[in-house]
Amino acid sequence: MTDVIDPAPNPHASAEEVRAAYADPKLANVLYHDWEAGTYDEKWSISYDERCISYATDVFNAVAGEQGQPYPTAMELGSGTGFFLLNLMQGGVIKKGSVTDLSPGMVQVALRNAEKLGLDVDGRVADAERIPYDDNSFDLVVGHAVLHHIPDVQAAFREVLRVLKPGGRFVFAGEPTRIGDFYARKLGQLTWWLTTNVTKLPALREWRRPQEELDESSRAAALEAVVDLHTFDPSELERTALGAGAVDVKAVTDEFSAALVGWPVRTFEAAVPQEKLTVRWRLFAYHLWLRLSAVDKKLLSKVLPRELFYNVMITGTKPAAPTEL
Ligand SMILES: C[S@@+](CC[C@H](N)C(=O)[O-])C[C@H]1O[C@@H](n2cnc3c(N)ncnc32)[C@H](O)[C@@H]1O
Repeated sequence: MTDVIDPAPNPHASAEEVRAAYADPKLANVLYHDWEAGTYDEKWSISYDERCISYATDVFNAVAGEQGQPYPTAMELGSGTGFFLLNLMQGGVIKKGSVTDLSPGMVQVALRNAEKLGLDVDGRVADAERIPYDDNSFDLVVGHAVLHHIPDVQAAFREVLRVLKPGGRFVFAGEPTRIGDFYARKLGQLTWWLTTNVTKLPALREWRRPQEELDESSRAAALEAVVDLHTFDPSELERTALGAGAVDVKAVTDEFSAALVGWPVRTFEAAVPQEKLTVRWRLFAYHLWLRLSAVDKKLLSKVLPRELFYNVMITGTKPAAPTEL
């Protein structure tokens, strides 16, 4: 492992840094995610209990199956607060884990979460295009919602294959498909516009968030457009991984009706005061999403083309070492 001291988090970027970030997606990622790290779990309803453990393990098993579990060592790229890796560890998929992220703030929160859960995890600040670990270090590399932020995705796949042991597996999930991202964004924009305008009516004033909070959300959305670099066609993503040298590559998609309903619901929830969202509403929204996901999996995935679904996940392996004759 490279022996360097990781940089410290910078949750309060200067105006000059923010200006520079608009022309530099990696700097934008560090500033945006350092700023978000402390509130990220709350914002995205991330937990480390049965709900997220079964979500993470179901997603993993849907693309990679259960063979090979538990993986003795695994590393996560773009771990954020540790949602994917820590829940996979709790679900018995991984024994020992390493979290990495471009944002020092995210690595700090992920390590804190791991410590609270009593999990065997270390962490590094790392750019996916230049991973600071030796060749052949891990049995598994995972990532969730990270590939679409990386400028050179094929370079990242090459690095993943370098740090994997021969025969080791990678699993990336939670990436937006090209078509899914298009309808999710349109639905999100429409819901935001409707909610923030309808709540201007005097009778609905209590449902309106303070203007400065709405302005802050709009500024965050503008920076989000800088950090979100790609959407993926499943077949193209497979070709990118194969081109980097992976074998047994397979992309799988999920969420169609769940995304058509889920994106407006999530945007509505972000546009109104949090105290208006009762426990009953949250449970209703969650169970609706679960039911629609089941319809997508059991029915729609059999009849619709995979490109239409919102999420794409991909797995593959590093070629096994040649056997000596
Ligand atoms: C959308 S967040 C997902 C976080 C977490 N995996 C999850 O699903 O909750 C994307 C994460 O990728 C990180 N990231 C962005 N670009 C990166 C890069 N080039 N190398 C490593 N991590 C990166 C960000 O800092 C951020 O924490």
